[in-house]
Amino acid sequence: MHMQVLVTDPIDDVGLERLRAAGHSVETAYDIGGEALLDTITDANALVVRSGTEVDEAVFEAASDLIIVGRAGIGVDNIDIDAATEHGVIVANAPEGNVRAAAEHTVAMTFAGARSIPQAHTRLRAGEWAKSEYLGTEVNGKTLGVVGLGRVGQEVAKRLESLGMDIVAYDPYIGEDRAERLGAELVEFETCLKRAEFLTVHTPLTSETAGMISTAELELMGGGYLINCARGGVVDEDALAAAVENEVLDGAAVDVFADEPVAADNPLLDVDGIVITPHLGASTEAAQENVATSIADQIDAAFAGAPVMNALNAPSVDESVFPRIRPYIDLAETAGKIAAQLLDGRISSVSVSYEGDIADEDVELATASALKGVFEPLEWQVNAVNAPRIAEERGIDVTESKRCSRMTFRVSLPLR
Ligand code: NAD
Ligand code: MLT
Repeated sequence: MHMQVLVTDPIDDVGLERLRAAGHSVETAYDIGGEALLDTITDANALVVRSGTEVDEAVFEAASDLIIVGRAGIGVDNIDIDAATEHGVIVANAPEGNVRAAAEHTVAMTFAGARSIPQAHTRLRAGEWAKSEYLGTEVNGKTLGVVGLGRVGQEVAKRLESLGMDIVAYDPYIGEDRAERLGAELVEFETCLKRAEFLTVHTPLTSETAGMISTAELELMGGGYLINCARGGVVDEDALAAAVENEVLDGAAVDVFADEPVAADNPLLDVDGIVITPHLGASTEAAQENVATSIADQIDAAFAGAPVMNALNAPSVDESVFPRIRPYIDLAETAGKIAAQLLDGRISSVSVSYEGDIADEDVELATASALKGVFEPLEWQVNAVNAPRIAEERGIDVTESKRCSRMTFRVSLPLR
C-alpha cells in the first residue's frame, strides 16, 4: 500500500529510508508552519515531527487523509492530541529511544554548571587563564532533588546516585516502590525544593507543570543549582534568570526554552552563571536512529491497520501479545458490524464479553475494534482511536466483561 508521509522536522535518515523501503513516498519540508504547513499537508497520510512543528486543530482540519502523527521523540506538548482524537488520527511517540541520551545530557549539564566548564572554556579561548576565579562544587555527598521520576528522571537518579549523591524525588503519580528501587526518597514538592542542592526537572509540560518552578520555589531552594533538560515553560525563565543573577541560586543549566528557537532577548542568555544548550538532550546518533526507526515502524503499522505500539490516543498492545490477540481484533470488528446491522433502532449500550483464553489478555484494542465495527456504518472516519470517544459523546454505555472458561474463545456483543 503506497502512502504519503510528510516530515516537517529533521529525523535520522534511517527512518526515512525505512519508510521508502516499505513503499511509501516521503516528502521532507523542514521549518514550515502556518499556512505553508496547511497547504503542504493536504494529501499526507502520515506526519512526522519533533518538537519544532506545532500540530494544532487547523492541521487536522487541513489533512483529511491523515492517519497518524509520529513524534520522533518523547514530548508531545506541540501536538493537540484531543484534536487528533476528534479527527480519528493516531498520535504516537518514541518514548524509549532517547531516554539515555537525555539522561546523559542532564548529567553533563549538572557538571557543566557545577564546574563552570563553558564559562572557563570561553575565557581560556579568549586568552585568559582564570584559574583562581572558578571554584566549583562537587556532586559527591550532595542531595539531588528530582522533580518527575519517570523514564529520564530515573536514569538521571541512577547515574548521579552512583556518583555519590543522595536522591530525593517529587512525583505525585508514582508509587513508593519505584522510588525505593532507585534508592530515592519520595517527598513533597516543598521538601524536595528545600533539601535539593541540585534540582533536576523531568516532568512533561502540562497545564499542571507549566510555571511550577518560579520565584517562590527558587527561594525555597536557597542556593544550589537548577537543571532543566525537560521542557521550557516548567521553570519560569524570568524568575530563574533573576535568581541566578541575584545569587539566590549558585547557578543553573538549561537545555529547553519556552519558545524555541530561543529569541535573542531571552533572559537566560545573558546571565553568566547559567549554562545553556539549544535543546540537545536527544541529540546523539544512537538516540536519533532509535526514535526515527521506532516512528517509521509505527507509521507502517498504522498504514497496515496493525496496532501502533506507542499510540497515545488509541489502545496500544505489547508486541509480544499482539499475535495472540490479532484474530480477536478482527473478529470483534466483524461482530460489531453484524450486531449493528441486526439492530433496529437507536444504540444505547454496547456490551462486549470475552470468554476463554482471550479473557486473560488485555482486550482494550479488541473492544475499540468492536466499537469501530458498530459505528462504521453510522459515522464518517471512525476508527479504533475515536470509536470509544464517539460512544462517550453519544451517551452509549460500553461495558467489557471477561470470564475464563475452558471454551476456546467467544466474543459476544449484544447491543441495546
Ligand atoms: P515520563 O512520562 O516517563 O516521566 C515524566 C514523569 O513526570 C512521570 O513519572 C510523571 O508522573 C511525572 N509528573 C507528571 N506531572 C508531574 C507533576 N506535576 N509533578 C511532578 N512530577 C510529575 O517522561 P520522560 O520520558 O521521563 O521525559 C521527561 C521530560 O523530558 C519530558 O518533558 C520530555 O519531553 C523531556 N525530554 C527532553 C529531552 C531533551 O532533548 N531535552 C529529551 C527527552 C525527553
Ligand atoms: C523529546 O521530547 O523527545 C525531546 O524534546 C527530544 C527532541 O525531539 O529534541
